[in-house]
Amino acid sequence: MLVAGNWKMNMDLTSARQLATAVVSEVGDPGPVQVAVCPPFINLDSTFSVLHGSPIRLGAQNMHDEVWGAFTGEISAPMLRAVGCHYVIVGHSERRRLFGESNEGVNRKIIQAQKHKLVPIVCVGETLEERDAGREVAVVSEQVRASLAGIHNADGSELVVAYEPVWAIGTGRTASPAQAQAMHAIIRRLLVEQFGSDTGADTHILYGGSVKPGSAAELFSKPDVDGGLIGGASLKADEFALIVEAAGEVA
Ligand code: 13P
Repeated sequence: MLVAGNWKMNMDLTSARQLATAVVSEVGDPGPVQVAVCPPFINLDSTFSVLHGSPIRLGAQNMHDEVWGAFTGEISAPMLRAVGCHYVIVGHSERRRLFGESNEGVNRKIIQAQKHKLVPIVCVGETLEERDAGREVAVVSEQVRASLAGIHNADGSELVVAYEPVWAIGTGRTASPAQAQAMHAIIRRLLVEQFGSDTGADTHILYGGSVKPGSAAELFSKPDVDGGLIGGASLKADEFALIVEAAGEVA
C-alpha cells in the first residue's frame, strides 16, 4: 500500500513547513504503508528538512525530460534527487490537459526519472466525455501502453501507476469502488503483459480522484487498488492521516 499526497499549486514556504510537520506527527508510524507528500518545487528542499528522519518520503509533481540546459523555468531529475525526492509524479491529467503533455513526452520523463533513481508515479485516466462515449478502457489502455513503452521495472518497485479519472478529480465525485477496481484490473493485466506476473502483481496501482477519509477504506479494499494519490484531502494533515490509516487496515 502506498498513499501519496499531491499538494498541487498550494502552500507557501511557511504553510508547507507547517503542513509537513503536522503530517509527520499525525501519520506517526504508518506500519506497512508507504507514505509520500509531493509539494511544489519551491518547497521541496524545506519540506525534506522536515520529513528527514521520518518514514514519510518526498515526491515532486513534475520534471523535465532533459538533465540540464537551456530550458528556462524547468527542473530536472538529478535536481529532484539532490533535494531528497524519492518519487516524481509524471503525466498528471492537469499537465496533460493544461500543458499539452503527450504519452510520448510522459514516456521520456519516465526514462529519465528512472535513470536518476526516482520512482515515477505515472498518471492515467479518462475524461467524462471519453467515459460517456464508452471509450474509457481504450483511452486508459493506450495511455498505459504508450507511456510505459520500453520502460523497465525489475521487481515492481521502480514504477507506480495512478488511475485518476479526470471527472473525479477535485469534483467531489469519486469513482465507485467497483469502477475503480474494473479499471485497475485492466491496468494490472497490461502490467503483467509487459513485466511478467510477479512484477505486474507487485507494482502499486493507486486510485486518485476525490479520495476522502470516508471513501478510502472501501476503495483500498479492492484487490487491485494498492493505495491512493490524494489531492484536496492531503492538504489537511488529519484527513491525510486517516486515509493512511485506512490503507493500513487493509494492508
Ligand atoms: P483530488 O483528491 O483533490 O480530487 O485530486 C486528485 C488528484 O488529482 C491527485 O493527483
